Amino acid sequence: MCGIFGGVLKTGEISPLIYDGLKRLEYRGYDSVGFATIQDGALQVKKDAGRIDDVVQRLKMDSMPGSMGIGHTRWATHGAPEMVNAHPHTDCDGNLAVIHNGVIENFMELKEELLNKGHNFKSRTDTEIIAHLIEEELKGDIALDEAVLKSLRRLEGSYAIAVVSNSDPGKILCARNESPLVIGVSEKGTYCASDVPAMLPYTNKVVYLRNGEFATLDQDGYEIKLVSDGTVVERGLEEVTWSLEMAEKQGYPHFMLKEINEQPTSLRGSLRLQPQYLDLLTTLLDRGRDIFLIAAGTSYHACIAASYMFSRLARITAFPAISSEFIEQYGSSVGVDSVILCVSQSGETYDTLKAIDHARMRAGTVLGVTNSVGSTLTRVARAYIIQQSGPEIGVAATKTFTSQLMVLAQLALRLARMRGKVSQDEGDDFREKLLQVPDVVEETLSRHRDYVKSLVEKYSGERLFVFLGRGISSSTALEARLKLLELSYVPSLAYPAGESKHGPISIIEEGVPVIFVCPRGETRKDIVGSIMEMKARGAVIISVCEEGDREIIGLSDDVIEMPKGIHEILSPIPYVVPLQLFSYYLAVRKGLDPDKPRNLAKSVTVP
Ligand code: F6R
Repeated sequence: MCGIFGGVLKTGEISPLIYDGLKRLEYRGYDSVGFATIQDGALQVKKDAGRIDDVVQRLKMDSMPGSMGIGHTRWATHGAPEMVNAHPHTDCDGNLAVIHNGVIENFMELKEELLNKGHNFKSRTDTEIIAHLIEEELKGDIALDEAVLKSLRRLEGSYAIAVVSNSDPGKILCARNESPLVIGVSEKGTYCASDVPAMLPYTNKVVYLRNGEFATLDQDGYEIKLVSDGTVVERGLEEVTWSLEMAEKQGYPHFMLKEINEQPTSLRGSLRLQPQYLDLLTTLLDRGRDIFLIAAGTSYHACIAASYMFSRLARITAFPAISSEFIEQYGSSVGVDSVILCVSQSGETYDTLKAIDHARMRAGTVLGVTNSVGSTLTRVARAYIIQQSGPEIGVAATKTFTSQLMVLAQLALRLARMRGKVSQDEGDDFREKLLQVPDVVEETLSRHRDYVKSLVEKYSGERLFVFLGRGISSSTALEARLKLLELSYVPSLAYPAGESKHGPISIIEEGVPVIFVCPRGETRKDIVGSIMEMKARGAVIISVCEEGDREIIGLSDDVIEMPKGIHEILSPIPYVVPLQLFSYYLAVRKGLDPDKPRNLAKSVTVP
């Protein structure tokens, strides 16, 4: 996720506005920054890796000349956070500059084609191909906007882009496909940005570009066309009534709620991984004699879920281990045949990095799944995958958890196919279900938002909660309990349901709420027995189950009904969502700040 800001002014310099706009988008990305401005037909580009304030001041970017230009704050997805990879990217001759937010899936093949035509690439980004594609189209002696449209038609993946060129110096050309872009208009000029807060000091009159749309901005306004066939789209401005603070969170009161609601988008991002990296990790995992899945906190819960995915789909035993325990628990058995898959949103968790040091010292193969390009994990792992969730600001992990599961499920499927453990049809069917997950999450969010709030009202006075699930749902129960505990500080327990009778059941008395996670699948029939055991001791049963599951519904006091047809192995992704909402609303109901739970840090870099 990156931040884009651009503008064409009637008079005055644009660069101070770009600086200010990007500062307001810093939450979207912060590892590199760059501006391109045009004055008297000359394009000027300045960029570097580093925080916005440092880079802008060092390169004096806020005094770049010109009344029109674009700026970008980067959150790396392809290529490390270095100067060459910072946006804007230019064509071979430096006549045009492009900024981009998103992931171009077919960039490797386009790059090869452009290299064969003699284009000279400077960066390792997917974005740079856009500049060269446009340059190539311009050789056909067509107008800039036509060249941009033709280039866009060749892109697969997600993008919000803005282009400026000295061949048409009064215009910014922009487009959107699955990455946000908004246009704003004031008496002084026209603006584009990834998000409203960037332009709110200048205007509250905006128009949101939709997927597959292209827009031309000049100092007097904008024109929107369809990328597919160039048809002009008439869409007027709307007035934004948010305050600046509300706008940063897109109208949500907290980043956590924004991030919970962003999950359909972040999950779609996690389905767009580069296949060659997935293949590399799969091949290395396949070679392992012992596979360990290592992580802390929420990421550890993703590892527990992954151990079920690997076993059920690919028939592989993979041991989930808490990173702070790994050296004691398994360290002595790690050797050259061991593969250690480390899952860490930040890529900087101290305990996970210590476990990695140990594994590397013993010649194990370290692999990574992380959300942070350029993090320590990406530097020390033999191979890694960036999970593409976009930055997460709320301290409690939400969208990064579901994306981790999405990545791990894709790895499990590839391993299963590689090892011949699923038939072509079974594999295709699972893939189909995987692709449906973002829509299922979207439906869950819109269906349950208000209902979960009403449950919070009902249960807000409770002093203890118990979460139970069987099979892979035990990871959902553990994660739901962690969210509740860390955000609202209510004591709670989570166990695999079958284990509850070996001790935890003693805590159950009249009225204790027990939340059961019970999707359809192989574990569904066993959970009924666990529900009966809890009911017999007076527990109040809240179930998250498939809609129309009459037996579970009949046994429950309250039910969160989930859409039909979700594969059990994928169920933790949608099933955790209403429980994230439950923890969020409970914290808010108690007057707590869910974005900053006490005693916790986003990235735990200390022993
Ligand atoms: C809980 C949470 C933490 C992290 C843990 C590991 O909501 O966010 O438990 O999951 O600190 O962090 P990463 O994934 O960055 O290694």
